Amino acid sequence: MVNLTYRGLCAPVFTIFNKDQSVNTKLIPEYAKSLAQNGIDGVLVHGTSGEGMSMTVAERKSVVEEWVKAVKTTKQHLMVQVGGCPLPDVLELAKHAEKVGVDSILCLPELYFKPSTVKELINYLKPIGEAAPKTPLLYYHIPGWTGININMEQFLNQVGEVIPNFKGIKYTSNDLDGGLAALRVKNRQFAVFLGADTLVAPALSMGFDSIIATSLNMLPQYSVAIAKAIKENNIIEARKIQDELSAIVAVITKNGAWVPTMKVATTLLTQIDVGKARLPLLNLTDEHVTEMKESLKKVSLL
Ligand SMILES: *[C@@H]1O[C@H](CO)[C@@H](O)[C@H](O)[C@H]1NC(C)=O
Ligand SMILES: *[C@@H]1O[C@H](CO)[C@@H](O)[C@H](O)[C@H]1NC(C)=O
Repeated sequence: MVNLTYRGLCAPVFTIFNKDQSVNTKLIPEYAKSLAQNGIDGVLVHGTSGEGMSMTVAERKSVVEEWVKAVKTTKQHLMVQVGGCPLPDVLELAKHAEKVGVDSILCLPELYFKPSTVKELINYLKPIGEAAPKTPLLYYHIPGWTGININMEQFLNQVGEVIPNFKGIKYTSNDLDGGLAALRVKNRQFAVFLGADTLVAPALSMGFDSIIATSLNMLPQYSVAIAKAIKENNIIEARKIQDELSAIVAVITKNGAWVPTMKVATTLLTQIDVGKARLPLLNLTDEHVTEMKESLKKVSLL
């Protein structure tokens, strides 16, 4: 039986691009180790932060293979997002992920011939589950980016019958009510990874146990501390740290899109230079990078 036991804080890692926009896999072992040292025991490769949808199939595979090697040392859970490309490529990536030994597979919906019903979404995911039958499969719900907003409670109530290795979702939405409804399906049978940096404390206090948030790359100490405070029933402390984290995220993302700004912040705040984002995403101007540096100094992070 396919079993997804991993729950907790999972960093959606960036893909490191060189100055010429080629993929750099050399820093992956160091990146993995630095996250592990900061208490992050799961990584998601090729999610939104990882820009998987902007990469070729060959590039995606090469990055996954390096992460497989890296997590052998760090013992992190390795989740890989295989969607965001034509279905034949998705199937190839799913097969590859299972063959090289990733721990779980996450998949976006079809982005052009979009599913509009639970049944259509399940039909899309079914062959992907079959392409990697021994690996837990999760669905990537991120309506703000995909425009696909299928009810996750209804979906989870039906998907298990059709796809035996289906084990959960990444729930990237600020609608905690809908997320909780998904979490409660069949007595918490499915993992629900909340993707919202500004809602870590509220989510954990409401009963979520798993988070995938971009800030885990460069500010892991905040969510780790929130999780600890919640565990100790210290809501006041959790709320205080969440307010700090949310304020810093607002400063970081003020002058650009999510991924390019978060990459700049990671390069500024950690030992890992994650490089710039790839087209179609745009780079920050030098002025905006300087402004971010000044703002991070003001909150004593630099
Ligand atoms: C999943 O695996 C873990 C570790 O091997 C085990 O403790 C747990 O009972 C298993 N869960 C299910 C539902 O099989
Ligand atoms: C962003 O910067 C990188 C690295 O300097 C460069 O290769 C790329 O072309 C730039 N992207 C855009 C859209 O200008």
